[in-house]
Amino acid sequence: MVLSCFMGSTFTQAQPPVDLHELLGKMTLEEKVGQLTQVNAHDSLPVWIQKGQVGSILNEVNPATIAAYQRIAREDSRLGIPLLVARDVIHGFRTIFPVPLGQAATWNPELVEEAASLAALEAASQGINWTFSPMLDVTRDPRWGRVVESFGEDAHLNSILGAAMVRGYQGDDLSSPENIAACAKHYLAYGWAEGGRDYNTANVGEPTIHEHILPPFRAAIAAGAATVMTAFQDINGIPATGHAFWVGDYLRKSLAFDGLVVSDWVSIGQLVTHGYAKDEREATQQAIAATVDMDMQSRLYLEQLPELVKKKVIPMTAIDSAVMRVLRLKQQLGLFSEPTVDYDYPDLLDEKHLETARQMAAESIVLLKNDAAILPLSSDLTVAVVGPLANAPHEQLGTWVFDGKDEDAITPLQAIEEYVPPASLHYAPGLTYSRDTSHKGFDAARAAAQQSDLVLLFLGEESIITGESHSRADIRLPGAQEALVQALTRTGKPVVAVVLAGRPLTMEAWQHEVDAIFYGFHPGTMTGPAIVDLLWGKVNPSAKLPMTFPKHVGQVPIYYNHVNTGKPPTPDSWVPMQEVPQKAVQTSVGNTSLYLDYGYEPAFPFGYGQSYTTFTFAGLTVSSTSWSGDQPLMVEAEVSNTGSRAGATVVQLYVRDHVGSRVQPVRRLVAFKKINLSAGERTAVRFQLTPADLAIFTRNGQMKAEPGDFTLFLGEDVTTDLSVDFTFKPKKP
Ligand code: NOJ
Repeated sequence: MVLSCFMGSTFTQAQPPVDLHELLGKMTLEEKVGQLTQVNAHDSLPVWIQKGQVGSILNEVNPATIAAYQRIAREDSRLGIPLLVARDVIHGFRTIFPVPLGQAATWNPELVEEAASLAALEAASQGINWTFSPMLDVTRDPRWGRVVESFGEDAHLNSILGAAMVRGYQGDDLSSPENIAACAKHYLAYGWAEGGRDYNTANVGEPTIHEHILPPFRAAIAAGAATVMTAFQDINGIPATGHAFWVGDYLRKSLAFDGLVVSDWVSIGQLVTHGYAKDEREATQQAIAATVDMDMQSRLYLEQLPELVKKKVIPMTAIDSAVMRVLRLKQQLGLFSEPTVDYDYPDLLDEKHLETARQMAAESIVLLKNDAAILPLSSDLTVAVVGPLANAPHEQLGTWVFDGKDEDAITPLQAIEEYVPPASLHYAPGLTYSRDTSHKGFDAARAAAQQSDLVLLFLGEESIITGESHSRADIRLPGAQEALVQALTRTGKPVVAVVLAGRPLTMEAWQHEVDAIFYGFHPGTMTGPAIVDLLWGKVNPSAKLPMTFPKHVGQVPIYYNHVNTGKPPTPDSWVPMQEVPQKAVQTSVGNTSLYLDYGYEPAFPFGYGQSYTTFTFAGLTVSSTSWSGDQPLMVEAEVSNTGSRAGATVVQLYVRDHVGSRVQPVRRLVAFKKINLSAGERTAVRFQLTPADLAIFTRNGQMKAEPGDFTLFLGEDVTTDLSVDFTFKPKKP
């Protein structure tokens, strides 16, 4: 009986569940280690599958090939165990949504969930049943290439959006053919790569791990994430993939994760390269002892485990537990119920998916500057469209695009051409690509500006200079883009810059010269239409920064939830370097924690983003100023749209713990809510806090709220002044 039909594939009704213990009992040792092996497509793969030497494949997307492999696994292998088919579906499959950092800028968990569920639907229709997403690596470093793949610098935002993404991929029922298994990665501390250089050592204290790095993994596991991937790098000297404590103990016991743990690509083999294992045998031993269940691409489990078990170095029980976790996932995914695939795959581009991509792109692009309310534009203006990102379909899609297509992408130029009459548009790219250093196109760009009322200048980074192993030490606009900005601002025409990049860039050299700035983290297939919606005001900008933007790369790491220090900077304690008198005495500069040349403020703070309307916040109250924690603390404020347009904003709630058994951040995000208000509308916004929201990693090594004085801050970004104090006084037990 046909159970469901979607995107051209039909599935038969689920069979009764397989008795996994009985199945395990029938398996040879070689078949068991086969289940723990994941490999990329290669010529002998069909034979490997038939012999039961493979439990999972990755990076095969041809639906007919996948179906053929599944058929071999089910019908020709001795025990008929189907395959896990994995793919990096990171920000969309065929329909490309904004990169995760852009998704974070929406602060919209419902939308993140919806996009993930559409990506799952597209991927599943090809036979894929497992994605390596979401990446939950909190990071404070815009130099790190993979910042693009993160939800930014804050643990709470990462937790909420990570859990939403897991729900989107997996739905309510993992066995439904529309859903795929999620993978919380990279466990643990991959985002702490020293110097922002990918794969580099993570030298990180335990309190930071507990307060900032673990929470998103905890949230994803609570949301039901079926799998976890170990990280490439070492944590304080011990590579994550062989980490007996953080993986073998903490993940399994404290986080109670009983799902499948997969290594990263060849990261078991790399235990030798790290200098942590003396040879491949020892590497295998370390990884399986750390309960890494599946070996991605090293093939070491296949080669080394049987011998290690026979020699009793590794107990069979360790292998059996790992195999059970693999089999259980296959059962949960409904893979033992035979699918019938009809090969009639329609074009994956679906109007509804594109509409969601457009909405998400528009909600992800942050308005950083809008001098003299130059935006939104009126429709009678003549515009010059300039810049290397104006018509670069590939570059707007972002880093992880294996299955999206450049030809699906609608560029800003194409969308503007659709929107304004031909006589009102002058296009001259100025530079051919983001790293182009030639000024040859500048004259034409200047000429286009001269003929127009204003310049729309599309700047940024190509996809390939962002993402895995694409870290940058200099995070300014690459190529001759800063010179292009200067050439255009010197024409005297107003300039609206639209940056499309994969990381926060430093813009100090030019941001003060332009009239407005929109900042998009590679927003995907529908970038062009979303930008038209924003520029001409069909959509009111609502995105907020998920990371602090530095003025200069030397300030990195610069992040909002830093501790106070014993010498916090103040505006009057900064004497800019040029003004320090020659031979002044050492203490004359005030001796607070800042840089002489760049002070202590960022270019743009965390949570920041403008709108075409204005919101005010007032009446912040708490249900008790002396809170025992027995009941939730009710926090309430009034938000008003005081402008003349409907719009959305993100109400952000931060806490300050004044005195702790360890020093605490000056502010920490504890809750947020995206709300829509029509012009003139006012509403009450409410949050509920529990003691867990105040938890810190105490001097005694527990995550727990400590009694004492707290302040809550509420507003549209982290700099808000609106505050209320309360005391947390738990009753004595
Ligand atoms: C390496 C990356 O670190 C990981 O995130 C990805 O899922 C795997 N390669 C598989 O492509």
